[in-house]
Amino acid sequence: MLKELRKPKVLITRYVPGNAVDRLKEIAEVEMNMEDRDLSRKELLEKIQDKDGIISVLSDKIDREFLESATKLKVVANYAVGFNNIDIQEAKKRNVMVTNTPDVLTEATADMTWTLLLAVSRRVIDGDRFIRQGDFIGWTPTLLLGSAVSNKTIGILGMGRIGQAVAERAAGFGMKILYYNRTRLGIEAEKDLQLHYVSKEDLLKQSDFVSLHVPYNSATHYLIDKDELDLMKKTAFLINTSRGPLVNETELAKALDENRIAGAGLDVFEEEPKVSVGLMKSPLVTMTPHVGSGTLETREKMTELAVENMISVLSGKEAITPVW
Ligand code: GLV
Ligand code: GLV
Repeated sequence: MLKELRKPKVLITRYVPGNAVDRLKEIAEVEMNMEDRDLSRKELLEKIQDKDGIISVLSDKIDREFLESATKLKVVANYAVGFNNIDIQEAKKRNVMVTNTPDVLTEATADMTWTLLLAVSRRVIDGDRFIRQGDFIGWTPTLLLGSAVSNKTIGILGMGRIGQAVAERAAGFGMKILYYNRTRLGIEAEKDLQLHYVSKEDLLKQSDFVSLHVPYNSATHYLIDKDELDLMKKTAFLINTSRGPLVNETELAKALDENRIAGAGLDVFEEEPKVSVGLMKSPLVTMTPHVGSGTLETREKMTELAVENMISVLSGKEAITPVW
């Protein structure tokens, strides 16, 4: 007689939209956190003890302590393209597969980059506030003047999928596109995307807009620090939709306060959900709360991909988008 197989158990740490979770329920016992809050560390460590898989979000710390509690764990499907919340080496040691959700969020994140770039340079938030305060009493030639975007120079640090999608949009604005990446793209790709490869230093010196699209890790910590901010033009804007700690937030706030750069558009922060007082007080910053991939369409696709990764690994197949 065949023993009845135990269904694997999966924890989903936050409610994720879309109906792909129903497919997962066909093969696994699913526990999804339906409350509108993160699980506490204690809850997370407790709940993971009997789980075979976890769909985690970027606020879940998947570190050694977590992995030590998760003795049955086979797979971490991170609901994000970034995976700096996960200790990959520790997961490898224990043979726990890690997957992420690339590609499906590329366009949404590039769109958000442009939303911030345009909003900060054309003072969209200032304008909205101005009207609501009842200050709009007539058109004037100097009202809320912004900075031009079309035909300016954009510098893209990090030319992966999202960097390339940002570049495609920049071409539509007739911009000169500089980029720096650890490895240079091929000549064909550079030609297609109208890219100019330069050093990081030249990029910072020449760009009117500097946009960050590199993954965060120990090597990219404070990629933009005081020295880098000092290289930027006084009239330049910094855009960050990648990870907060790529930028030294204290130095950024200082540079803005002293008008050493023109402004910043930020979707990510050093210690989310905390935002430093300096940025909070700066009128030159436009901020959004880490919603780069935040469209319903994209979040549903991320659910689908995380679920497909989970199902694949739990049924002994290759992950679709493995981190390792
Ligand atoms: C979001 O920040 C992601 O990495 O997907
Ligand atoms: C401005 O509203 C213009 O018509 O130039």
